[in-house]
Amino acid sequence: MEENKYLIKPDSKVAAFRSKNKVDIIYSSLIIPNELIDIARNKKYTVRTFGCQANERDGEIISGILEKIGYSKANSLEESDVIILNTCAIRENANERVFGEIGHLRVLKRNNPDLVFALCGCMAQQETTISKILSTNNQVDLIFGTHNISNLPDLLYQAYLSKEKIVQVYSKEGEVYEDLPSVRDSKTKAWVNIMYGCDKFCTYCVVPYTRGKERSRLKEDIIKEVNELVREGYQEITLLGQNVNAYGNDLNLGYNFEDLLKEVAKTNIPRIRFTTSHPWNFTKGMIEAIRDYPNIMPYVHLPLQSGDDEILKRMGRRYTFKEYLELYNLIRSTIPNVAITTDIIVGFPNESDEAFENTMKIVDECKYDGAYTFIFSPRPGTPAYLMKDEISSQTKSKRLERLIEATKKYAKLRNVEQEGKILKVLVDGPSKRNPDILSGYSEENKLVNFKGNPNSIGKIVKVKILKGKAFTLEGVQVDE
Ligand code: 5AD
Ligand code: SF4
Repeated sequence: MEENKYLIKPDSKVAAFRSKNKVDIIYSSLIIPNELIDIARNKKYTVRTFGCQANERDGEIISGILEKIGYSKANSLEESDVIILNTCAIRENANERVFGEIGHLRVLKRNNPDLVFALCGCMAQQETTISKILSTNNQVDLIFGTHNISNLPDLLYQAYLSKEKIVQVYSKEGEVYEDLPSVRDSKTKAWVNIMYGCDKFCTYCVVPYTRGKERSRLKEDIIKEVNELVREGYQEITLLGQNVNAYGNDLNLGYNFEDLLKEVAKTNIPRIRFTTSHPWNFTKGMIEAIRDYPNIMPYVHLPLQSGDDEILKRMGRRYTFKEYLELYNLIRSTIPNVAITTDIIVGFPNESDEAFENTMKIVDECKYDGAYTFIFSPRPGTPAYLMKDEISSQTKSKRLERLIEATKKYAKLRNVEQEGKILKVLVDGPSKRNPDILSGYSEENKLVNFKGNPNSIGKIVKVKILKGKAFTLEGVQVDE
């Protein structure tokens, strides 16, 4: 019997598989049924994105596809004819938020029975999500996976035709899609994918299962995209990958992330950022490129996860705390005024008091500019999910509290160091709290609130820093 292509559920065993097969690069893949173009006329959409930058970029592409079909962006959920939740599965609370949201949307569906309600992103790649939704959440019409985005027009059309839920979630290593339309969220800052997927298989992480194998875009396609952004007047790009240092490995062209960084720096884009870098494979050449090219920003996000060698080993992180510190110190000593932030997980299964203290020691030594801290969340399908854990949730919460306190203290210390300096700030707009104050990010990726000229929005200006706080800097523009 032929497989029903509108009822394909994820399979984590298949998703965990890695081959040496060459990755297909697919250009101009979008096919839009004419009937759907008629349906979409005068209809509106909302895409709501959760999670990381890779998801944000997917959200922009999903919006681009919907606008290409003919939908226009809605101003509210109530006036939407299509609502797409683009979800994240990294921790359980991300999942819970999405299920909460699905619950809220029930009433919209009641008021507008023609509403098409879809769910995509990393949660869609999980068997547990699909079975829960298929058994309980009747208001969801369509579920599609991270590998199925280019099929969205067909899937959406089927959702209009069918009374059944449409589910299409491939579990596979994945391709590279070029030329999909997109609507970017910002006119000044842009995400640029350089690679997809992850092959590191850290034992706590779902990403390798939800996003397929590491596969790089061709440098020609990346540079073409960056040049277009320069022409459109963009001020900043962020090169995106789950682990950008692995860029090019799969292509076997002898061209790596350091080469790409330098080539991108030679375009006239004023600011280049990149995220995320695994400490493993972070080369001296990359660090020197950041130092040598003024348009590569002096900011590195360098996830530590744990400062204890036994935990690092069980996490599958491929470095020791000593190796991490060596790299950290090399970055600090090579790049002037560099800012370094990190990710740390507490409460990994059976993390002892001693292991946690080892993490605190590294935090005391590194004095990070900022840290994202999490309590370990067991993800179904990952090796750490099955690890025995006898540490109470109370102990974990206490550890997190201590860690947050320490990282806040050091972030403030680093920010106080900026007092008196003149930093270059790309102005986003009025600050959230006070419309008379402008807000933007410095080259070091520090959020700066300052008194300045409202005509500076979208531009890079000089700001004298007057005060460093734990999460922000305050200052005054000096080049109006
Ligand atoms: N539990 C808690 N935190 C996690 N992260 C990834 N997976 C988990 C998990 N299962 C954190 C890591 C990673 C960041 C993006 O999220 O610190 O760097
Ligand atoms: Fe997850 Fe590790 Fe890959 Fe990062 S490097 S996405 S933490 S598996």
